[in-house]
Amino acid sequence: MRNKITLFFLVCSFLSFGQKIKPKAEFVNDLISKMTLDEKIGQLNLPTSGDITTGQASSSDIAKNIAEGKVGGLFNIKSVEKIKEVQRIAVEKSRLKIPLLFGMDVIHGYETTFPIPLGLSCSWDMKLIEKSAQIAAQEASADGINWTFSPMVDISRDPRWGRISEGSGEDPYLGSQVAKAMVNGYQQNDLSKNNTLMACVKHFALYGAPDGGRDYNTVDMSRIKMYNDYFPPYKAAVDAGVGSVMASFNEVDGIPATGNKWLMTDVLRKQWGFKGFVVTDYTGIPEMIAHGMGDLQTVSALALNAGIEMDMVGEGFLTTLKKSLAENKVTLAQINNAVRLILEAKYDLGLFQNPYKYCDVKRARTEVYTTANRTEARKISAQSLVLLKNMNQILPLKKSATVAVIGPLADAKENMAGTWSVATNMDKSISLIAGIKEVVGNNAKVLYAKGSNLDYDAVFEEKATMFGKTLHRDNRTQEELTNEALKVANQADVIIAALGESAEMSGESSSRTNLEIPQAQKDLLQELLKTGKPVVLVLFTGRPLVLVQENETVPAILNAWFAGSEAGYAIADVLYGNENPSGKLTTSFPRSVGQVPIYYNQKNTGRPLMNKEGKFEKFRSNYIDERNEPLYPFGYGLSYTNFDYSNLKISSDKMNFDEKLKVSIDVANTGNYDGKEIVQLYIRDLVGSVTRPLKELKGFQKIFLKKGEVQTVSFEISVEDLKFYNSDLQFVAEPGQFEVFVGKDSAVENKVSFGLVK
Ligand code: BGC
Repeated sequence: MRNKITLFFLVCSFLSFGQKIKPKAEFVNDLISKMTLDEKIGQLNLPTSGDITTGQASSSDIAKNIAEGKVGGLFNIKSVEKIKEVQRIAVEKSRLKIPLLFGMDVIHGYETTFPIPLGLSCSWDMKLIEKSAQIAAQEASADGINWTFSPMVDISRDPRWGRISEGSGEDPYLGSQVAKAMVNGYQQNDLSKNNTLMACVKHFALYGAPDGGRDYNTVDMSRIKMYNDYFPPYKAAVDAGVGSVMASFNEVDGIPATGNKWLMTDVLRKQWGFKGFVVTDYTGIPEMIAHGMGDLQTVSALALNAGIEMDMVGEGFLTTLKKSLAENKVTLAQINNAVRLILEAKYDLGLFQNPYKYCDVKRARTEVYTTANRTEARKISAQSLVLLKNMNQILPLKKSATVAVIGPLADAKENMAGTWSVATNMDKSISLIAGIKEVVGNNAKVLYAKGSNLDYDAVFEEKATMFGKTLHRDNRTQEELTNEALKVANQADVIIAALGESAEMSGESSSRTNLEIPQAQKDLLQELLKTGKPVVLVLFTGRPLVLVQENETVPAILNAWFAGSEAGYAIADVLYGNENPSGKLTTSFPRSVGQVPIYYNQKNTGRPLMNKEGKFEKFRSNYIDERNEPLYPFGYGLSYTNFDYSNLKISSDKMNFDEKLKVSIDVANTGNYDGKEIVQLYIRDLVGSVTRPLKELKGFQKIFLKKGEVQTVSFEISVEDLKFYNSDLQFVAEPGQFEVFVGKDSAVENKVSFGLVK
C-alpha cells in the first residue's frame, strides 16, 4: 500500500514539474530545426531588464519582444515574483516557448554579502571562497536567478584601476585557485540542481591592464605576458567547467576582445577546449564602432565571426545579422552554432524540463539572508581583513575601554557591502559602530563623531557615493567637525578612526590618479593623533592605497576593505580579539603612485639594484625620489601572535622531470594567541630561454597553530610547477637551477635550491 502511494505521488510530481525530455543533442537539434531565422537571432539577444516592476512586466516593451521570440535572456532583474512573471511570457506567449536565462551580477554574495573579491582573496582560503560562492548561488537561485556574471578574474597590477576591487589581485597562481573555487562554488559541478548557478568568467581578456589605469582604456601586451601572467585564471575557470565567458571591453593585440577571433576561437575554444557560450559585456558590440572597427552591421558580423554567441544590450545581432546573412557576411552555420550553445546552456540548467525551476517563491522567503548565511558571512569577512601595523600590541582592544569611533566611514551602513553589490539590502548592513556596540555589549562606552566628510570637495563626494551609497554629507565646516571629533576623542581611552574610500570610489569607472586617503580625512587623522591617545586606523578601501604617512604616524592599521553586509561585526570581532586576523595581501601597496604598475613577480632587468637598503644607485634600475619596493608587499599581513620559521629543508638538490621534491619548514607560534598563518612557497627559475620573474608563488597553506605549537609544513614540487610559456608559447619546463623560498610573504629571503635535470 505504502509503495502504491509513493508511486502515485511520484507520477503526480513527474506530470506537474517535468516533462520527459530527449537527450541534449537531439532535443536541441529538433528545436533548432523548428526555429525561424528571427527566432534564432532572438536567442542571441540579452537585454537588461530596465526598471520592470511586478505587474507591469507583461505590458513592457521587453514583454513584447519576449513574446515575439526576440530575447534569449534578461539580467539584473531582482525578485522571484517578477522573474516568474517574465518567464511566463516566454513560456506561454512565445511561439516555441523557449525559457529565458536570468542573469545577474552576483559578484560577492546576494543579499547576504561577502567581502569585495579583492578582500575575499586575502583570506587565501579556497574552501571559504567556494563556500561564499555556494551561498551566493543558493540565495540568488532561490530568488529566480540562474546565471551569474562572476567570477571576475582579471589580474591587475594597477591600483589606479577601480575594478582591481573586483578581482583577486596581482598573482596568476593565486588568481587561478580563486577562479576555480568560485566556479565550483556557483556550479557545484551540477547545474541540474535548483540551488546552483551557471557562472560566467570575465572579462576575457586582459581587462585589468588598461593604460594609465583608466577604465576601458587600451591594453597593449606581449603574448608571452598574456600567457604567463594574465591568461591563467581565465583558463583555470574554463578547466573547472565554467558555463559561460564574458568578453572584455578592451582591445587585445589591436582588436577589441569582442571582435577578436584569435582570442575567442583560437585561444578559448581551440587551445583551451571551452564548450560553453560567450556573451559580450554591456554594449560591447556597438562600442566597437567607437573603437574604429566599422558600422553596427560590420562590428556585429565581426563579433559573430570572432566567436561571440550572445549580445548584451547592444542589439547589434538583433538588428543586423539577418542583413549580414543575406549579404554573405556571416553564415547560417555560425548563427546555428551560436543558438545551439545558448540552448544547450538552458538545457543544462534544466529550464526546458521546468522553466520555473528557480521560481519557487517559498525558497525566496526561507533561503535568502538567513541567520545561518549571515553567520557564515561574518566568519568569512573576518578572514579577509589584513592587519597592516600593530605597534606595541595596541590590538586587540580591551572590551572595557571607552572608545571613540570617528570618521565618515564609522556609521556608514550603505557603504559596507562595497561596489557591485546589486542585491544587497544596504539598509540592513552592519556599520562599524553597530558592530562594535554588539561586540562590546554593555562593557564599554562607545562614542561617535563623524569628524569629516569623505573629502573637502562636495562634487567629488557625489561622484564617489552613487547608487544610493551615500555618506550623508555634513554641511558643517571642517573646523566644526574637527572640534566635535576632538571633544569626543578626549573622553575616550582609545580612538578608532574609520577612514578611507567610499564604496563607489572603486569599482567600474572609478579610476583614480591619486591613491591617498582623501585629504579631509588625512587632516582629521593627524588631529586625532595629536590628542596623544592610542589611534587605530580602520581602513576602508577597494584598492591598495598609498599609506606612507599613515604607516609612519599611526600605531595600528587594520585594512577592512569592504567586508560585506556583516562588515561591522567582522571588523569588531577582529578589533576585540574574538578573531585573530590572518588575511594576507594579494596586491602590493605602493609607496607612491609613480611606482605603478607594481607587483612582486617582477623581473630583474640587466641593472638591478645592488644594495638591499634601497639606496639610490646611478645607472641602475631605480628612482631618484623613491625606493623600488612597495610599502606592504604581496603576501603581507600580521597576526596578534608571532610565527617563527625555521629548518627549511628540501628532499634533494636534484630532480628529474618525472620526480617530485619535498620542501618542508617548521612554523612555531611564539606569541600569546592561537592563530592562523598563511605559509607561502615561491620559486625562482635562475636561467631560462626567456627572462623569468624573481619569484613566483607556487604553493601556500593556511594553518592553525595554538599558542606555543610548532608544525612542520610540507610542500611538493613537481615539474608542472616549473613550467612556463616560452617564446614559441609552448608550455615547458627547462633544465637548470631553481631557488625555493618559504616564508610569511613575498619578501621572504629564506631559500634552498635544486637543479632540474633531464
Ligand atoms: C560590467 C560587467 C557586468 C555588466 C552587466 C558591465 O558594465 O563591465 O562586469 O557584468 O555590466 O551588469
